[in-house]
Amino acid sequence: MHGPRPIPLNKDLSQAPGIGPAGLQAILSGIHAEITAHPPAGHIPTYIPELGKVPVEKFGIHLSTLEGRDIHVGDHLETFSAQSISKVFSLSMAFALEGVRLWERMGVEASEGPFNSVARIEQLNGIPRNPFINAGALVMADVLVSHLADPEGQFLAFVNALCGTSGIVTDPNVARSEASVGHMNAALINLMKHHGNIHNPIGRVLDFYYFQCSLAMSCAQLAHTFLPFADHGRPFLFNGFALTRSQVKRINALMMTCGFYDESGDFSYRVGLPGKSGVGGGIVAIHPGEYAVAVWSPGLNTKGNSLRGMQALELLTTRTNRSIF
Ligand code: DON
Repeated sequence: MHGPRPIPLNKDLSQAPGIGPAGLQAILSGIHAEITAHPPAGHIPTYIPELGKVPVEKFGIHLSTLEGRDIHVGDHLETFSAQSISKVFSLSMAFALEGVRLWERMGVEASEGPFNSVARIEQLNGIPRNPFINAGALVMADVLVSHLADPEGQFLAFVNALCGTSGIVTDPNVARSEASVGHMNAALINLMKHHGNIHNPIGRVLDFYYFQCSLAMSCAQLAHTFLPFADHGRPFLFNGFALTRSQVKRINALMMTCGFYDESGDFSYRVGLPGKSGVGGGIVAIHPGEYAVAVWSPGLNTKGNSLRGMQALELLTTRTNRSIF
């Protein structure tokens, strides 16, 4: 985990008038109590059989400030499947390796359809709209397989370095479970291979993609892992992968515009922070210069984003009266 960090450019959230650490703890506990007063809502994503086994009532929140404070409630230490949240990590590595050449193979525009839409990839001749839909993540997986001697090992080492730990692992049962039913991803990657936008054997790229999606992380680990994206004051260099401040800005911008697929506008409107979701029910959001926060509740809405997770983050920025806007 991260140790104490230098005083950030902006005031730390817990120093804001009326919101000391105790106030922030009261806000998080209040949000947890208010939301759990209602029965868990949303659906568990059974399209990946292993994810279907997770109890719907799980719910945790962990907020880490750049000053090194940790405030949390509920199941914040329990690990769950990070799924698409892992795309922020693969984007960071691919951007560090390729720089702006990455954008010759995918766009930076919000997507209109579901995260696994095959129709759009066919219409766009194999060039995904952005790195966070599945097609974009498969292109990034291809980039990493092209560049790295040990893509899986280096990916895991990078994520652990971001978090400042060595304890983050993947769940082979989840990876196997998804591989056994990954027909949509197979369709996407075959279309992109046809258009010349996948350079390695399809099976190899899919193996890496399912590996990265099967990261098992807790809210506490996720919040710490995203702190470097919120930190304007420190160089971004983790396990040999370096991003400039400008590149980190652009990754945050992509989280803002594309992090929730065709619900990114709604998330921006309601929460007002850049973030990224996964079908494991996790959401991570950052307040640049202040904090990173992770929420986990496995019940999803129809767009594949955590229902309670979005509610919790909307209440957080409303009750702290702080967002990037
Ligand atoms: O490829 C998939 O469908 C999953 N491994 C990841 C999708 C995902 O997490 C979308 N998130 N909200």
